Amino acid sequence: MESLAASKVRQQTAEDFLPLQGTDYVEFYVGNAKQAAHFYKTAFGFQSLAYAGPETGMKDRASYAIRQNKLTFVFTTALRTGNPIADHVYKHGDGVKILALRVDDATSAWEETTKRGGQSYMQPLKMEDATGQVVMSGIHTYGDTVHLFIERKDYNGPFLPGYKKWETPYYNPTDTGLLYVDHCVGNVGWNQMNKWVKFYEEVLGFRNILTFDDNDISTEYSALMSKVMSNGNGFVKFPINEPAEGKKKSQVEEYLEFYDGEGCQHVALATNNIVETVTELRRRGVDFLQVPTTYYDDLLDRVGQIDEDLAPLKELGILVDRDEEGYLLQIFTKPVEDRPTLFFEIIQRKGARSFGKGNFKALFEAIEREQELRGNL
Ligand code: FE2
Repeated sequence: MESLAASKVRQQTAEDFLPLQGTDYVEFYVGNAKQAAHFYKTAFGFQSLAYAGPETGMKDRASYAIRQNKLTFVFTTALRTGNPIADHVYKHGDGVKILALRVDDATSAWEETTKRGGQSYMQPLKMEDATGQVVMSGIHTYGDTVHLFIERKDYNGPFLPGYKKWETPYYNPTDTGLLYVDHCVGNVGWNQMNKWVKFYEEVLGFRNILTFDDNDISTEYSALMSKVMSNGNGFVKFPINEPAEGKKKSQVEEYLEFYDGEGCQHVALATNNIVETVTELRRRGVDFLQVPTTYYDDLLDRVGQIDEDLAPLKELGILVDRDEEGYLLQIFTKPVEDRPTLFFEIIQRKGARSFGKGNFKALFEAIEREQELRGNL
């Protein structure tokens, strides 16, 4: 007999006009895709997957797809000036362009979302090669960011039609235990959060599952507000941040200024062993935000018993928070480009489905110390 939970999921899916199977890939527009792909392979443990460029018939760009478990990243660069990819990089620097979502039916996804007010980025497009077929469509979201809907039921190629398998003969560092995208956060402008909450509710059928206001998220200097949007089955979660008034410039304002508009602030990557993952990432040169070691003095009083030893958490700067359902461990990288814009979160969930509210203050104070060093506070 079907379990209660399974029946609930089935019912929700039946009512869901946009059933999503999860994140298909994240595509970054960057100044130098060849070097970016090398950095993510070497530092984060991704493996070479596929390449598209002039050699495969793509005349205006070069794209490198890399993979680690269920995580697929694509780095795309323009080969000439005067096109949307070059313009995107000129304006925003390196950043997330596409948050691609896996669907059963990309045509229906496009029809349902554009019917509800979504602005079309790409009409359903059928692409084929000898290994099968992919249907793709897409709509715009905040800033210049885009959601593509990817239907790849019977496709057996390395990544997408137009790409060829990319093999690198040199030693590729092993993976670091990163598994899949846990959530992607968008930074939007002043008073724009509710507009985008409404967009995710009405156009994509998401629900607002958590809200943080400036009382939850404020330090002495800066504040922000955040609402977490989730799709029906909970596989896709998009928190939306907007700046709030504070004594000094908030991290969201700094982002908006340097990204020159709204965009993806961070992508959270899941692991089943955060201590091993972060040890390896640090060893390979990934920089993380550091909270003061006093954070750990009363940690166990705040979060109760945890499976992990305190010493490695303290040494690595991993944060812990608990909610009604369990706890989570998390840590944030510094921005991964010279502009203070996109960064990554590494997260291990042990029952908790929340986002580490208990860590916001310590975390934002750590971010402010970095902002201060940049002269942007
Ligand atoms: Fe996050």
